[in-house]
Amino acid sequence: MPEGSHGRVLIVGAGHAGGTAAALLRQHGWSGPVTLVGAEERPPYQRPPLSKGLMLDKVTPDDLHLKPHKFYAERDIELLTGRHAAAIDREARTVRFTDDSTIGYDHLVIATGARLRKLDVPGIDLAGVMSLRTADDALRLRAAIRPGLRVVVVGGGYIGLEAAASVRSLGAEVRVVERESRLMARVASAPLSDFVAGYARERGVAIELGASVCRFGGRDGRVETVQLDDGREFPCDLALVGIGVVAEQALAEAAGLDCQDGIRVDAHALTSDPAISAVGDCTRRPIALYDTHARLESVHNAVEQAKQVAARLCGKPAPAVEAPWTWSDQFDLRLQIAGLIAPADEAVVRGDPAKGSFAIFHVSPAGVLRAVEAVNAPLDFAFARMAIGKSLRTPPARLRDPAIALKEVALA
Ligand code: APR
Repeated sequence: MPEGSHGRVLIVGAGHAGGTAAALLRQHGWSGPVTLVGAEERPPYQRPPLSKGLMLDKVTPDDLHLKPHKFYAERDIELLTGRHAAAIDREARTVRFTDDSTIGYDHLVIATGARLRKLDVPGIDLAGVMSLRTADDALRLRAAIRPGLRVVVVGGGYIGLEAAASVRSLGAEVRVVERESRLMARVASAPLSDFVAGYARERGVAIELGASVCRFGGRDGRVETVQLDDGREFPCDLALVGIGVVAEQALAEAAGLDCQDGIRVDAHALTSDPAISAVGDCTRRPIALYDTHARLESVHNAVEQAKQVAARLCGKPAPAVEAPWTWSDQFDLRLQIAGLIAPADEAVVRGDPAKGSFAIFHVSPAGVLRAVEAVNAPLDFAFARMAIGKSLRTPPARLRDPAIALKEVALA
C-alpha cells in the first residue's frame, strides 16, 4: 500500500476478531474503504454467552451483537453477511465468493475462526445429535431442553461443561462423556479438573472419564442411546457433541500461505504475505512471554490480534504484550485462566477450594509466575494477570503464606 494512503481493507470473517478489527481500524483513523464479510446472517456477535446466558434465557442473540446494526453504516464499514469466501487470488489481490462475486483489497484480514471437530461414529447424523457453535445452534438446543430430558454431552471441555451446567440448571438429566482421564485437560491443571468434576457431580451431573463414544443408536431417525467403547450403553433423548474446534484455514492454505494447525502469523498478526493479516481462532501465533507458538481460542486473543492489525495498518505503536487468558462460567463458578501452564511449574493453592473460592498459581522453577487458574477469585486473577505479563517473581513460600497480602507477594 503506498505510504500515507489508506486503501481498501477487506476483512473475511465477521466474528469477534473480524468485527473488532473493523471497528478499531475506524477508531484509529483508517480513512479508506473497510469491507467486513461474514458467512452467518448476523452481524458480529459474542459467542461465549451462547452456552450460558442464552441457554438460561438471560439474553437473546440480538443482545450479543458486538455493535448495533447502525454502527457499521455510521462508521462507513460495509458489512456483508451470508457470504462465503471461496478463494484468495494473491496476485490480483481479490477474494472470490461462492456466489461468484469478487472483492478487491489493498490489505486482506483473514478472520475465518474455527469449525467444530467432527465425531466420526455411526449415528452422528441422527436427529437429536446436536452441536453448539453459532447462535442458531444455541437457539435449537435451548428449544429442545425440558426438565427430565436425558442429555448426553460428548466432550468435557469448555462447551461441554458450560452447556452441561446450563442444561442441568434447566432440570434435565446430564451425563458428560470425556475421552481423556480428566476434564478440561487441554486448558486446565489436574487439580482444577478434579475440582470442576467434583462440583458438577455434586450438582447431579454424571461424568464418565476415559470414555469414548463408538456409536449413537436410534429409532425412526432419532437418537435413543449412546454406546461407549467399553460396552456400556446409556439411554439419551438428546446428545450434544463438543469435542473441540479446528482452525478454519482452508482459504489461506489454498492461497499458499504458511499454515500449520492455524495460519502462521508474526507477533503483529501478519501472515507470510505482507498484504495479508490473520486474526483470532484461525491463527497460530507467537506467545512472546513463553517463547513459543500456539493457536489460542479466546476472546482475548481475537481482540489482541485485532488491535495489532489496526495499530500496524494505521501506523500507531504496537499494543503492549499481555498474558493470554480465557474464562468459563459453570453453575455459579467463574473460572479464569491466564498464561500457559508448563509441566515443570509448581502449583500453589491460595484460598479454600471447599469454600468454592481459590486460585492455583503456577510458578516456574526460577520463581516466576507463569499461569493462574482462579475460581471465584477475581482479585487473585487480576493480580496474577498483571504479574504474569511482567514476569514477576512470586516465590511459592510467599504465595502460600496467607499472612502476606497478594500485592506484597511479588519480589522485584
Ligand atoms: N470423545 C469424548 N471427548 C472428546 C473426544 C471424543 N471423541 N474428542 C475430544 N474430546 C474432548 C477433549 O478431550 C476435550 O476435553 O472434548 C473436549 C473439547 O474441549 P475444548 O477443546 O475445550 O473444546 P470445546 O469445549 O468444544 O470448545 C470449543 O469453544 O468455548 C469455546 O474456547 C472454547 O474454542 C473453544 C471452543
